[in-house]
Amino acid sequence: MQSNDLRLALLPGTFDPFTNGHLDILERALKLFDQVEVTVAVNASKTTLLTVEERCALVEKCTSHLRGVSVAAFEGLLVDRARDRNAVALVRGLRQVSDFDYEFRMAFANHKLHPELETVFLMTSEEHAMISATVVRDVHRWGGDLSAFVPPAVVDALKKKPPAPEH
Ligand code: PNS
Repeated sequence: MQSNDLRLALLPGTFDPFTNGHLDILERALKLFDQVEVTVAVNASKTTLLTVEERCALVEKCTSHLRGVSVAAFEGLLVDRARDRNAVALVRGLRQVSDFDYEFRMAFANHKLHPELETVFLMTSEEHAMISATVVRDVHRWGGDLSAFVPPAVVDALKKKPPAPEH
């Protein structure tokens, strides 16, 4: 628990890029926790379309209307970040059954490493259930309209960005 008794959760991810689905999960997590840190994984093993600085800047732009949100780039084990920040939970969005296997394994590993830290799964709203950053990158690659999938700031940023090789 934080010294000021504010309950902090981490919302970790690659956010390449931040989507309407991520925003939906963040807004709902803010109803459960006093503060949510969007923890942007550097993910050196993945080729990302956006640099970690660009990803963080976009999350900041897309969440500037929300209270209780912070954004941080992070490399390492999430449980270490959670300990450093005195976070009480990790929040992950679940879209479909196909997400479950990966999420379950990750939650299990994190629980072994830090038993006091809870992983909280929030079900993505129906209208966002099919949105993924992978789909967004694919639509972007072929010059499609992204406005149904990502916040306006991300649409603008991606217009200026040439597509990256898929990963
Ligand atoms: O949005 P993503 O790409 O599904 O997010 C994956 C992420 C960043 C949450 C995951 O790769 C992660 O937790 N990375 C940090 C390393 C770590 O803590 N690994 C142990 C849990 S498997």
